[in-house]
Amino acid sequence: MTLRHYLLPACAALMLLSGCGGEVEDTLPGQPIKHRREAFKEILRTFEPMGVMLRENTYSSDEFNQLAAALMEIRDTPWAYFTDDSNQPPSKAKDALWANRADFDAHRLAFMDSTDALFEAAKTENPETIHTAYDKVGETCKSCHKLYRR
Ligand code: HEC
Repeated sequence: MTLRHYLLPACAALMLLSGCGGEVEDTLPGQPIKHRREAFKEILRTFEPMGVMLRENTYSSDEFNQLAAALMEIRDTPWAYFTDDSNQPPSKAKDALWANRADFDAHRLAFMDSTDALFEAAKTENPETIHTAYDKVGETCKSCHKLYRR
């Protein structure tokens, strides 16, 4: 048996597990799955550095306020992309999301309220106050992910 004979089945097995040929494309018109995933990544790119600053005691009001403002700008972006036809690969949303839209919406609103509160807390420039508000936002991300993301 040549090496090629060993490699082909290995690739076929990998394809089943992780997609040997790379990620599945979002084939829907307008690519709502791709857009919402990118929007969440953008949210993370503002949210994560704020957390690093607070945890590592490197809080700087200028930098923090910029990130908090950027989060306010983009926090609305993912939601309109949860279209009814988009419960399919490569989405990592659970079926439960489409079965419980009202509850998903309630989680979205809790996230909006918590980011409002973070934005207000940022104005105090008091790292402790801000940290508490920051953690509350983190809890809204987590509780929604627990129910609605694989
Ligand atoms: C109301 C529910 C909800 C809230 C709140 C929420 N997310 Fe998500 N998030 C989701 C769902 C659902 C997905 C899966 C989307 C998909 O794959 O179709 C997701 C996916 C993601 C992803 C993965 C994107 C990718 O590349 O696949 C990241 C990162 C993420 N969220 C970060 C966050 C952060 C950070 C917060 C809070 C600051 C947050 N999310 C708040 C529901 C939520």
